[in-house]
Amino acid sequence: MNRLAVVLLCAVVAVAGLASCSKKEQAVGPQPTEAAKQALIVRGEYLAAAGDCYACHTVRGSPAYSGGLEMPTPFGKIYTPNITPDQLTGIGNWSADDFWKTMHDGKSKDGSFLYPAMPYTNYTKVTREDSDAIYAYIMSVKPVERKNTPHAMGFPYNQRELMAGWRTLYFKEGVYKDDPSKSKEWNRGAYLVEGLGHCDACHSSRNMLGAVTGDDVSGGLIPLQNWYAPSLASSRESGLGDWEIKDIVDLLRTGVARRGAVFGPMAAVVQHSLQEMSMVDLTAMATYLKAQNEKKESEPMLHSGPSEGLTAAMMKTGAKVYKDNCESCHQADGSGVPHIYPPLNNNQALTMRNPVNAIRIVLNGGFPPSTEGNPRPYGMPPFYQDLSDEQVAAVVTYLRQSWGNNAPPTWPVEVERSRGVPAD
Ligand code: HEC
Ligand code: HEC
Ligand code: HEC
Repeated sequence: MNRLAVVLLCAVVAVAGLASCSKKEQAVGPQPTEAAKQALIVRGEYLAAAGDCYACHTVRGSPAYSGGLEMPTPFGKIYTPNITPDQLTGIGNWSADDFWKTMHDGKSKDGSFLYPAMPYTNYTKVTREDSDAIYAYIMSVKPVERKNTPHAMGFPYNQRELMAGWRTLYFKEGVYKDDPSKSKEWNRGAYLVEGLGHCDACHSSRNMLGAVTGDDVSGGLIPLQNWYAPSLASSRESGLGDWEIKDIVDLLRTGVARRGAVFGPMAAVVQHSLQEMSMVDLTAMATYLKAQNEKKESEPMLHSGPSEGLTAAMMKTGAKVYKDNCESCHQADGSGVPHIYPPLNNNQALTMRNPVNAIRIVLNGGFPPSTEGNPRPYGMPPFYQDLSDEQVAAVVTYLRQSWGNNAPPTWPVEVERSRGVPAD
């Protein structure tokens, strides 16, 4: 057994011991040992990575978890709070019970309703044990004094009490319950994807009130960012149903896989969260995601957009743009170079109904995340300056209709719409 495994095993034993102490001999029992406390913190750190708390509660260049990140929503700007254990400006005077109230019930310490920009609609599935571990970890980070920035939301959205109605409609509290008809691995994957991973915060369509509609990961445009997160439940969109488990794990862990690479907001998810996760947990998530894809099909795609004649002209322009600008990396037959330049043939990321991701990556370029498994990723240059709206629409149409890809053409106006949007 290597050293890490020994430490982990000790951690598990210690945590189990701690749980049983606190149950039986609450007030009088022996205090948890230093080692047990340390083990709980280590586990909490892992779970906090799975929940990607850092990404929202940290501004780049500022101390971890000190908050202040601006989150644009259709209802105004929300600023994430300081969750370091600072007594005055952070959550230093919160108990594990207060913390559980946030994770499980979506309420602050004083009982006021939190906005669902904090993904408690997912975190409610997290167990009390895991919540306590995350609490222990958060209490162990460096306290930072930074006063919370007030949200900039207009009436009536600034009235927290009104969340009561929203909660009745869209929030169902409750820890994840295993589906006994499924394997242990599937259930672990579901717990992570639906709970801490909060994948459906992006991979679902949101209704007018910002609620996630439907129970599954059905795909949706991320409001105000203009990226499309494909349905993780449709083999037509994400295509994960016919991926090998190993390839899905590769994509989640390193950001690149045989069948494609992640980009845009998904690159950040891999970078801050997924790459930290154990192979066992990633395999469980991949097992669950693959099973979702095998389950159902989205409606067939309707070919609407430019007429046939116009499409033929765009294909001709697109082929030339591709040859001049793209072929050197992605190859003439769109097959790419494994783990370096993603293939564009048979790549579902390009054939989704919504062409916005392909348009945005051509305009802005991109890097897969730098991960331990792929520390120095190859990048893609931006073509914002070099190609006109017509040329970008033409080359994206070309990608969507070549080498066996079969998706509707796209319009120059769709390119124009993506130009004003910030790159990330
Ligand atoms: C997608 C962004 C996002 C993620 C991920 C996220 N949070 Fe939050 N969190 C928020 C926002 C926004 C608020 C403030 C909501 C409000 O004001 O109603 C918040 C509020 C909180 C609060 C309440 C603070 C207070 O003073 O009331 C706590 C505690 C908290 N988050 C902890 C966490 C933990 C722990 C994680 C990871 C398991 C996490 N958050 C992940 C966005 C996020
Ligand atoms: C912040 C928003 C966001 C969150 C949270 C998020 N995703 Fe994504 N995801 C995206 C976007 C946008 C894309 C499209 C870009 C791409 O293909 O990389 C994407 C793409 C993907 C793909 C690639 C599909 C394909 O066919 O190439 C997979 C797989 C995926 N996400 C899985 C997950 C899982 C699992 C989680 C939860 C642990 C998750 N995502 C959480 C935004 C998000
Ligand atoms: C210098 C090499 C290079 C050139 C030239 C290049 N690309 Fe890329 N391309 C990449 C890399 C690397 C990625 C992965 C980027 C990421 O994950 O953020 C990529 C990703 C993509 C993707 C997303 C596919 C996926 O699964 O990640 C599309 C679409 C794409 N390129 C289209 C084009 C088009 C169209 C052109 C020409 C206009 C082009 N590329 C030119 C290297 C290149």
